[in-house]
Amino acid sequence: MRIIVANDYDEMSRKAAHLIASQMILNPESVLGLATGSTPIGTYKELIKLYKDGVIDFSKIKSFNLDEYFELPKDNPQSYDYFMKANLFNHVNIGEEDINIPNGMCENIERECNDYEKKIIEAGGIDLQLLGIGRNSHIGFNEPGEHFETNTHLVQLDEDTIEANSRFFDSVDDVPTKAISMGIGSIMKAKKILLLASGAGKADAIYDTVNGPITPKVPASILQLHPDVVIIVDKEAASRL
Ligand code: GLP
Repeated sequence: MRIIVANDYDEMSRKAAHLIASQMILNPESVLGLATGSTPIGTYKELIKLYKDGVIDFSKIKSFNLDEYFELPKDNPQSYDYFMKANLFNHVNIGEEDINIPNGMCENIERECNDYEKKIIEAGGIDLQLLGIGRNSHIGFNEPGEHFETNTHLVQLDEDTIEANSRFFDSVDDVPTKAISMGIGSIMKAKKILLLASGAGKADAIYDTVNGPITPKVPASILQLHPDVVIIVDKEAASRL
């Protein structure tokens, strides 16, 4: 694992965007794994700037998002589909057919999960997976548990995650209790992984991810076994390292 400590959120975002941009320049047909949450918003802003300055081009890029809330329509501003359009896709030249996000409104959950895995394989696998991290060390929506879920699956969200994500909803009761998430196996198959964390609230999760035992109780700790992980954190998230 390579750990880069940035002075603040803006520097973390710039460094992350430059790493993603390098991947896109080296391989303009890259398959990117993308994440939601407040953490990557600054990175997406920087990527939009780099696109507008003519440094990067999304026309041959394919993207796969980590997760989506279950039974939340795409036009709900809290859906991850809506988030990705508002924060990145509407501002760059990615083809609509090249955007992949699990469909939280699907009728057959098993088929949706299997098809999502198949689509990633057909695209040639993920070249660079961007990750945020939950306060409880979840990645995607892989919550702490007794075992690592391998493939895309339906998740029952933890109380802590529902509470943490309620800040985006009118009330905690509006937060979906389930989500579709790429599994730990799907994430670990990515050729490179870039994990971002900012703020003191993530310091314990980052400490456990980097130093703790590898255990499904700390889902991100599995990243210790991946051959190419870069973690970019601001000083506060790095405060326990
Ligand atoms: C959600 C997402 C995760 C994200 C996490 C942290 O639960 N499913 O992919 O990493 O939130 O979010 P934030 O960056 O807002 O702290």
